[in-house]
Amino acid sequence: MKVTPVSDIMGAEVTGVDLSVPMDGDTQSAMGEAFLAYQVLVVRDQHLTPQQQVAFSAQWGDLEVPDNVHYTHADSDRVMILSNEIRPDGSAVGVVDGGDFWHSDSSHHPVPSMITILQSLRHPSRGGDTEFCNMYAVYESLPEETKEKIDGLFGVHHVSKVKNKRVTISPDRPGAKDFYELQAKNRGNVIQPLVLTHPVTGRKALYCSPRFTIGIQGLSDADADPILDELFPYITDRKRRWHYRHKWRDNDLVMWDNRCICHRAVGGYGLPDIRCLHRTVVAGDRPSAAQQAA
Ligand code: SIN
Repeated sequence: MKVTPVSDIMGAEVTGVDLSVPMDGDTQSAMGEAFLAYQVLVVRDQHLTPQQQVAFSAQWGDLEVPDNVHYTHADSDRVMILSNEIRPDGSAVGVVDGGDFWHSDSSHHPVPSMITILQSLRHPSRGGDTEFCNMYAVYESLPEETKEKIDGLFGVHHVSKVKNKRVTISPDRPGAKDFYELQAKNRGNVIQPLVLTHPVTGRKALYCSPRFTIGIQGLSDADADPILDELFPYITDRKRRWHYRHKWRDNDLVMWDNRCICHRAVGGYGLPDIRCLHRTVVAGDRPSAAQQAA
């Protein structure tokens, strides 16, 4: 197995492994070390069936059941399909707007995602990249007075886009407005520390996102908004100082650590070009400072 960094800030390409078969102990520990060191791993030329992707993912921990059961794969309810393809009867093959704003997966759940694993089946001729932001690096680059200001604060996270003034609902996804209205009614807020201590590396990372963080516990919007509006530009940064942008090839398998990475699907493609990925997610631990908020 060979590990080659893909950028100065995060990410490494891994070659010389076949993830369709169970990893032996040496491969698993080398992959584990690379994962903690580089936060995003890009493994080229993988051909995993849905069941093989589930088996590979389960080697890292328990799998999450996707929120949106309409777009899970027929061969496994743990595999979510991300796709813009439309069947002849007009129905959508997969989620078309998955991850279109910067976020860390499932931070709106009390126990958020640890690892997300995407395998590319088809990539469009242009566009369709995924962008990653290193939240360790973001935290480390904050001014000391900002670090002091957010120390001990907890973000309020919610999944529904209708509760979030910083995002919009894609017009391309049928029924999306009703889906998010229902979530707004049925789901509660989840509190997460604004600064997370990674349970394995012990490093601190900023833990909030424009997609899911809608406020700060105990603060009015008038007091919370200036803080969030100071933090979010570090993630959406146009200069991309803490970013790696992945340009997909067919059969890439990319996995990332949601405890220290935010990401977004960049878009910029459309039919007849098709983008299709299979997504599995490994559940994480409760973010460390969150227990104090319970
Ligand atoms: C995701 O947010 O999990 C999907 C990202 C992508 O489709 O590029």
